[in-house]
Amino acid sequence: MPEVSNEIRSDREVWTAVEAEAARQERQLELIASENHTSREVMAAMGTVLTNKYAEGYPGRRYYGGCEHVDTVEDLARDRAKALFNCSRANVQPHSGTQANMGALMAIAEPGDSVLAMSLDHGGHLSHGHPKNFSGAFYDFHHYGVEQDSERIDMDRVREQALALRPRVLLAGASAYPRTLDFPAFAEIAREADAHLMVDMAHIAGLVAGGVHPSPLPHALVTTLTTHKTLRGPRGGMILADSDIIKKVNSAVFPGGQGGPLMHVIAAKAVALKEAAQPEFASYARSTVENAQALAEALAAGGLRIISGGTDNHLLLVDVDSAGLSGREAEDRLHAVDITCNKNLIPFDQRPPMEASGVRLGTAAITARGLGVAEVTQLGALIVEMLREEQTEARCERVRGAVAELANAFPIYA
Ligand SMILES: Cc1ncc(COP(=O)(O)O)c(C=O)c1O
Repeated sequence: MPEVSNEIRSDREVWTAVEAEAARQERQLELIASENHTSREVMAAMGTVLTNKYAEGYPGRRYYGGCEHVDTVEDLARDRAKALFNCSRANVQPHSGTQANMGALMAIAEPGDSVLAMSLDHGGHLSHGHPKNFSGAFYDFHHYGVEQDSERIDMDRVREQALALRPRVLLAGASAYPRTLDFPAFAEIAREADAHLMVDMAHIAGLVAGGVHPSPLPHALVTTLTTHKTLRGPRGGMILADSDIIKKVNSAVFPGGQGGPLMHVIAAKAVALKEAAQPEFASYARSTVENAQALAEALAAGGLRIISGGTDNHLLLVDVDSAGLSGREAEDRLHAVDITCNKNLIPFDQRPPMEASGVRLGTAAITARGLGVAEVTQLGALIVEMLREEQTEARCERVRGAVAELANAFPIYA
């Protein structure tokens, strides 16, 4: 774990839990597709005096005095975001991906306007129209999904739905879709339906930065992202654009949906954006996808069904019903041997969400700690064993040992 000197660790209750979490992360192999391990420098930036500063507003136009240094930090973050994603405008203040989506939607639609987005059951996100989320409460969401046979988005079907609905916003992006998103086709449909195209690239931002997923920036009116998934930054959100729509975005973020920005997190975003611009990050993004493909192959070779037959990005969905298990059971079996993942609905799932028929596996975090195709193939065989074979104590102990060997060989914060 990054050092915090012992003199300032007086709160034993908190630091004991933090140390236990650091040990858990080192010990377990993290396959939750939305998580990652940041660099020490990203974490260090979050633990700075910038957390003390109120900076409502934007650089050069703040409501508080003493903002000259935090202005420098926010300008660095904005400039690096624009350079990395090749766009002309950026808002780096959203506290999370959900708040980035709130800022973007408030900027391009009025309450009650219709939005066409990916169905939550087929891989969309809560902030894409769940009735209990702001999005579903304030906008009129309609959804497209994947086709039953291919388990992929059929752009002709999206076009039919968009032309019938004529939504204010067409929203592309997902939490559990393993295939490349066709942004030019989404843009064409948005044009035909007279809708604004919004892209939520929360999951794939690091792949876009690393050049292994096409960029939505040339096509979307606004693009949102999270900084903590494949991008390997601090927990947070961001909104990118290429036009004056950013003025509406800026006032939708502050004062629309948030108060003072988290300047310590914005500093960490700046650090992460610089890291993501290095050539090593492109190799990391490439390895993340290669590892996901190797994992999909290993699981398929072991008789598990992979949704849509494979993956183009950092995640895969495994139909564990093909091993006679529910997603919850599969998650528990893997957790018992220090492999962390989450149960997930699969398209046209017959089980309820808390049970589900699939697990979602992602390779961003294990790639960050250095696992390559050989180790991931080995990990795939261990997963097959845990999901397909009888669970004896001896087996669990052996697999736990093999996972520990992999984890020890690839420490996160050596
Ligand atoms: C596609 C998508 N959008 C938005 C979010 C929301 O991010 P946050 O949890 O930071 O609000 C997520 C998180 O998983 C996501 O997958």
